[in-house]
This record gives sequence, C-alpha cells and structure tokens, in this order.
Amino acid sequence: MRSSDVHVSDGRVSDGRVSDVLVVGGGIIGLVTAWRAAQRGLRTAVVDPDPGGGAARVAAGMLAAVTELHYGEETLLGLNLASADRYPAFVAELEEATGHDVGYRACGTLAVALDADDRAHLRELHALQTRCGLVSEWLSGRECRRLEPMLAPGVRGGLRVDGDHQVDPRRLAAALMAACERAGVVFHRALAERLTVVRDRARGAVLAGGAELTADQVVLAAGSLSGRLAGVPAEVLPPVRPVKGQVLRLRVPPAYAPFLSRTVRAVVRGSHVYLVPRENGELVIGATSEELGWDTTVTAGGVYELLRDAHELVPGLTELPLTETCAGLRPGSPDNAPLLGPSALPGLHLATGHYRNGVLLTPVTGDVMAEALTTGTLPDEARPFTPRRFSPVRQEQPA
Ligand code: GLY
Repeated sequence: MRSSDVHVSDGRVSDGRVSDVLVVGGGIIGLVTAWRAAQRGLRTAVVDPDPGGGAARVAAGMLAAVTELHYGEETLLGLNLASADRYPAFVAELEEATGHDVGYRACGTLAVALDADDRAHLRELHALQTRCGLVSEWLSGRECRRLEPMLAPGVRGGLRVDGDHQVDPRRLAAALMAACERAGVVFHRALAERLTVVRDRARGAVLAGGAELTADQVVLAAGSLSGRLAGVPAEVLPPVRPVKGQVLRLRVPPAYAPFLSRTVRAVVRGSHVYLVPRENGELVIGATSEELGWDTTVTAGGVYELLRDAHELVPGLTELPLTETCAGLRPGSPDNAPLLGPSALPGLHLATGHYRNGVLLTPVTGDVMAEALTTGTLPDEARPFTPRRFSPVRQEQPA
C-alpha cells in the first residue's frame, strides 16, 4: 500500500476500501469531483490506473465558450459560461491550495477567415453570438494582422473574442492531483473492472485483480470509457463514445517571441484548427475530430492536415521545433453536452460526456457534483444535464 492510500478523517482511519464516495476515473473531471467532495467532508477515493492522465494529457486547454458556440447548443452555452466565469476564482483557490501554477492565461481568442466561405461561416457565428448576448467584435483582415502580425497576409477578417481564455490541462491535472492528496482523497492505482450493485443500489467496484472497494455513492467519471464499465445496468450506461483528436506541440524559441499573443483559430476547408500559445513558449496546435472508435494512433495524415491548415493561418510556424504529437479521445455524447449527477440507479452518479468542453467545464462540474453528492439534488444550472434525459423510462422524481 502506498502512503497516499491511507486516509485519516475525523479520527477514522481507513485504507480507502470503504468510503463515502468512490470516483471511477482520475482525469480532470474525476479529480475535481473528488477534490470538491473531500472538501465537503466526504471520505473520497479515486480509482484509476493512471490518475491525472486521460484526455487532459492531450487537450490544448482552450476555454472557448464563445468561439465554440454551435447552433442548437444554447443550453450548453449557459453551463459553459457559468464555468468560464468561475475559472479565475477556481484557479486562485487551486493554486493557493497546492502552490501549483496551472498556466491560466486571460489572453482572449481571435477566430479568422481565410476565404469567402470561412468568412460567411464566421459572419453566421458572429450573428449567433450576438443573438445570445455574447461579446465578440468583427475585425477586418488588416485589423486581425495588426493584433497578430504572424497571421498570413490572406486573412480576410475575423472575430475578436476577449473573453475566451486558456489553461494548461496537464498542469491543471497535476494541481488537482495535489489538491486531492492534500484533501485526503485516497488513490487506488488500478483498473475498475465492474460496478458492484447490491439490492438495486451501486455499492462500489471490483478492481482488476479482484480487490473490492465499497462506497455509499459511486461517481462514474471515466471519460470515453464511461460507457464500458461492466455491471452498470444497460439502461443506465452513459451513451458516450470516443472521438479522437490529434494534437501537435511546438516550441517557440525566445528569439521568436512573442509569436502569437492569443489563441488563433479558423475553420479551414471545414476542419477546425487552433493555435494556443502558452506563456512558457509551448505552442499547441489542434485538433482533428475523428470517429474511429478506440484508435489513438497518431497518423501522418492527421499531422499533415493540422500542419497544412495551421501553416495557412500562420506561415512562420514551419520554423518552429515540433516537440510532440499525440492523440486522445473526447467523451462524445448524443447532444454534445455532459451527463451530470444522479443516474436512474440509486447510488450511481455520472460525470462524463463533456466532449469538447471538459477543460472548460471542470470548475462547474466540481461544484455541481459536490452538491449532488451531499444533497442528492442537482443545482438549477445543471438540471438540463441530468443523465436521465437518456434513460428509456424517464424518472419523474426530482434529480
Ligand atoms: N475544444 C477543443 C477540441 O475539442 O478540440
């Protein structure tokens, strides 16, 4: 047993095999849930073979509630904005609790158009943003280049969104791990193989190797794997699927700085491409969106398309060292929105299906899940995201 597997709370000592809350999945969503639950005095454990890993190892960390707005997703926009609003205080609390710097950067975003089709697309997005009461400003190509001189001369116009920021998801995950450890969360570095259900109630999990963990409440927060946990009744199993994203990391040598001062993004030939410049000189380029099941191969085609599209936006990037290529799996849901809170199986909560917004939704997910775990009730802002919207038989009782 590791020393971090021992938990002391209110004089009760346990090895974490019995807890109030067992979180299955130690990505940023599972970790923030565990941290917030522990802060509310719940004995909390996390089971994951590699906590702090998952999609956040790959994600660029854009906090893009406004620039990633889509038709039909106005309800999700409300949750995205609520989480974006919480980010500064969330980061301050997390950094204060752990001494970690999570790389939050209030830098804004510029979404640009390279041709007439892109420009028409951006004009539509601008109209939708305006109808939703969001702040974004239309700029000419020249104004875009004045803001970001490395942009290609062919940029035809763009949207300046000063409220869409960024955080470094790897640092965020590391900070959440540290915060959990300090709050007494027990980590079981193992694979949860099966949910335990006793008398129609979730009661814990069986791990690879046969060990059993028992809990009053279980949170399934395993990202794209959430739909695969054995033992979860079929009607409760979350309908999440893996959506592959390939991402590149480049390094901006000091002589080239500042290369970009904010996130720059575009839709090029129908594909989204974004460049996220970190303060430490890292430049993240993302991302493909591929429905290929569990495949996480980094392909020549994926790298080629990302570099080709990014190069059309910012030609000078071909000079930069390419330091990393990687691929991860977004947990996609049928309506692109997360599943949060109590499921139709008593004792089982879900915190999954965050799709393109996992990093953005981290603060609000922690708050919502802590509320659900302590009161049994979802706060109003999260009610539209109840997992019961996908249950074949809708439950009428309050969430
Ligand atoms: N939110 C960015 C992505 O999913 O690629």
